[in-house]
Amino acid sequence: MSVTLHMVASLDGFIAKKDNDVSWMDAPENTYDKGVEMTADVLETIDCYVMGSHTYELALELGWPYGDTQTIVVTSRTLPSTRKSVEFYSGDLKVLAQKFEQKNVWLVGGAMLCQEFLRLNLVDEVCLTVVPILLGEGVALFGGNEHTLRLKEVTAFKNGMVDLWYTVARTD
Ligand SMILES: NC(=O)c1ccc[n+]([C@@H]2O[C@H](COP(=O)([O-])OP(=O)(O)OC[C@H]3O[C@@H](n4cnc5c(N)ncnc54)[C@H](OP(=O)(O)O)[C@@H]3O)[C@@H](O)[C@H]2O)c1
Repeated sequence: MSVTLHMVASLDGFIAKKDNDVSWMDAPENTYDKGVEMTADVLETIDCYVMGSHTYELALELGWPYGDTQTIVVTSRTLPSTRKSVEFYSGDLKVLAQKFEQKNVWLVGGAMLCQEFLRLNLVDEVCLTVVPILLGEGVALFGGNEHTLRLKEVTAFKNGMVDLWYTVARTD
């Protein structure tokens, strides 16, 4: 089992503007000649997405990008079921993580749920796709706890975005 926290962030660490706007993520007008083309290959390796309820609601609003891959939405509310691949979870996140078994799980937001997963030491890897923009303010991805990361891979793309992959040192 592996849990990868994957988020798209501004260079100053925000994952959305205060009004939840994420349009700044769309391919920037950079052309970085030494970069590689972005592909969706890695998405085929994902067995399950996990997200908080706000991210779920915004994804429904903006257009569902997770295909038919199993998706677990963490919420204490009763939300309308919209797709066969979506299930809802309420309760202890450590118990949820025990159910992941051998799966390649991607934790895809938002800030609240990611910070909870980090705090509980349930994240194996962090992949941040950094967009070349400074937002100044917004929804901050990280906060709260200190974690030591080990750089695993860096990929720069032609569009100026950079993937930073880290492994997270477990503290238990
Ligand atoms: N840049 C990116 O890659 C990216 C990706 C995803 C999202 N986003 C942005 O992030 C923002 C949403 O993030 P967010 O931090 O506001 O919300 P979020 O993490 O998506 O959702 C928070 C909700 O998840 C549920 N939750 C979280 N921890 C829980 C726990 N331990 N137990 C039970 N339920 C729990 C609660 O739902 P209930 O209130 O329903 O109980 C909580 O209100 C949006 O602006 C979105 O656009 C950006």
